Amino acid sequence: MRVLRLRKDPAVYSSEVYLIRGDWNHLSDVNTLVDVGANGAVVSELLSLATGVGKRAVQQVVLTHSHFDHSGGLDRIAEEFDPEVWAYSHHNPRCKRVRDGQSMHLGDRDFYVIYSPGHSNDSICLYGPDDGVLFSGDTELNLMMPGGSYSRSFVRTLETLVALPLKTIFPGHGDPLVEGVGDMLRRSLDNVYRSEIFDDRAATSTGGDISAGGSDLDAPDRSASWPPGVARDRHFHAR
Ligand SMILES: [Fe+2]
Repeated sequence: MRVLRLRKDPAVYSSEVYLIRGDWNHLSDVNTLVDVGANGAVVSELLSLATGVGKRAVQQVVLTHSHFDHSGGLDRIAEEFDPEVWAYSHHNPRCKRVRDGQSMHLGDRDFYVIYSPGHSNDSICLYGPDDGVLFSGDTELNLMMPGGSYSRSFVRTLETLVALPLKTIFPGHGDPLVEGVGDMLRRSLDNVYRSEIFDDRAATSTGGDISAGGSDLDAPDRSASWPPGVARDRHFHAR
């Protein structure tokens, strides 16, 4: 798997845009963008890359959530590359909806969708077990101290992430995190446990608003073997 962080337009506030390719440009690889940024500034760089003979540079887009800085460039990308577009919410008619625990092929690797409400109701992370990689979007993962309030859904997401053998996090803004990832997540979860935790199940069970996408905000069913086939080898007990 090759991950390329594309160049952004410095004049526009935009998320990171990552292109995931396979190691050898095989026909079966799925050239995938994680987020598209606020405008189409990444198109020219994409057109200049070697992305496999006879293949579109972007065959698939996965949006970590619908905020404009992550998704505003979608129409421009779609015009140029006509990719399949996946997101948790149906905020744009081009989007097909992903679900918590769904597996997806990105580049030459299998990934899993982790629904991560908190920053927004339609946030997801993408977990690649082969490389211990997480694309986290704007999900808040580095909580330096206790305080504030967090939903049970968010706590559940952090507990899920802490249990995964992560090595690298590609965030929605800023440089990849490659050192001390597990320690950071454990500290964050510890700080969340020491903060106010509110129950958001009542709000979600009546059908929350995730743009035009409907109301599928039920708590994910995460058994001990979730994501499927992935060992949960580190368990954190803060209390
Ligand atoms: Fe955001």
